[in-house]
Amino acid sequence: MATRHFLTLLDLSKDELKSVIERAIELKALRAQGIATEPFRDKVLGMIFEKSSTRTRVSFEAGMAQMGGSALFLSPRDTQLGRGEPIEDSARVISRMVDMVMIRTFGHNVLERFAEHSRVPVINALSDSYHPCQLLADIQTYVEHRGSPAGKVVAWVGDGNNMCNSYINAARQCDFELRIACPEGYEPDAAILAAAGNRVTIVRKPVDAVRGADWVATDVWASMGQETEQQIRMKAFEGFLVDHELMSHANQDAIFMHCLPAHRGEEVSGELLEDEKISVVWDEAENRLHAQKALMEFLQENSK
Ligand code: CP
Ligand code: NVA
Repeated sequence: MATRHFLTLLDLSKDELKSVIERAIELKALRAQGIATEPFRDKVLGMIFEKSSTRTRVSFEAGMAQMGGSALFLSPRDTQLGRGEPIEDSARVISRMVDMVMIRTFGHNVLERFAEHSRVPVINALSDSYHPCQLLADIQTYVEHRGSPAGKVVAWVGDGNNMCNSYINAARQCDFELRIACPEGYEPDAAILAAAGNRVTIVRKPVDAVRGADWVATDVWASMGQETEQQIRMKAFEGFLVDHELMSHANQDAIFMHCLPAHRGEEVSGELLEDEKISVVWDEAENRLHAQKALMEFLQENSK
């Protein structure tokens, strides 16, 4: 058995993804009943954060503690990573001391290089290209609220960013149709899009993506690392606000997701975000915890 990594959603087979989601739902129920699951006793998760985080850090750290292990927060500010020690050397050293590593970084190739030299499973906790852990939580949330996403219509409104790229991979893995509404010049990665075939389409008007959709998602217009583009992006994304008016074009039982943090009044209206009949963002955030616990358990069980 080789070491399994989770750098994109495509690192799991469709069946494996389904079983991780089912296990996440089960772990959530066990926790609600006060039943502990501790497969990580004496195990340590290394957490490398080169960007800020609330949900990802809390969910991985709490999840590891709940499963009997512990987690180590590593920032480039106070490790040799920030002083230029090669990522390959860091991978070889860190992976001899901990049992699993999660990394939040800029370039996706940092994750790939780390994984190549790691003895233990490596998890992508967000890169400029993907955010697959968030998609585990989003899929779990859809399944809990509406059942299987297979055959459904999902609308992505906004930037063709790391979240959008991961939604494209989710469309392949879960067999849903994905319509992406983005301004010209803000499309998702061309190769990721091309690999998904005709189940994913790009439109220019948000309403064309949302019409008849079962699941609508958006994200900030300027991601971490794009702070200097904020003003330009605010202009480019005019008309891309997701609000009740836009949602009125979706199917009657459509739900709204946002990975958070959200900018009320920019990509989503405060009224929609707070409307718990449509918006499932708090469940979505909570499910980061359960989905990643299931993921870590899977990677441990399936790695040598
Ligand atoms: N959604 C998400 O990844 O949130 P954080 O940046 O707070 O971890
Ligand atoms: N696209 C956002 C997601 C934050 C969770 C970013 O990369 O900043």
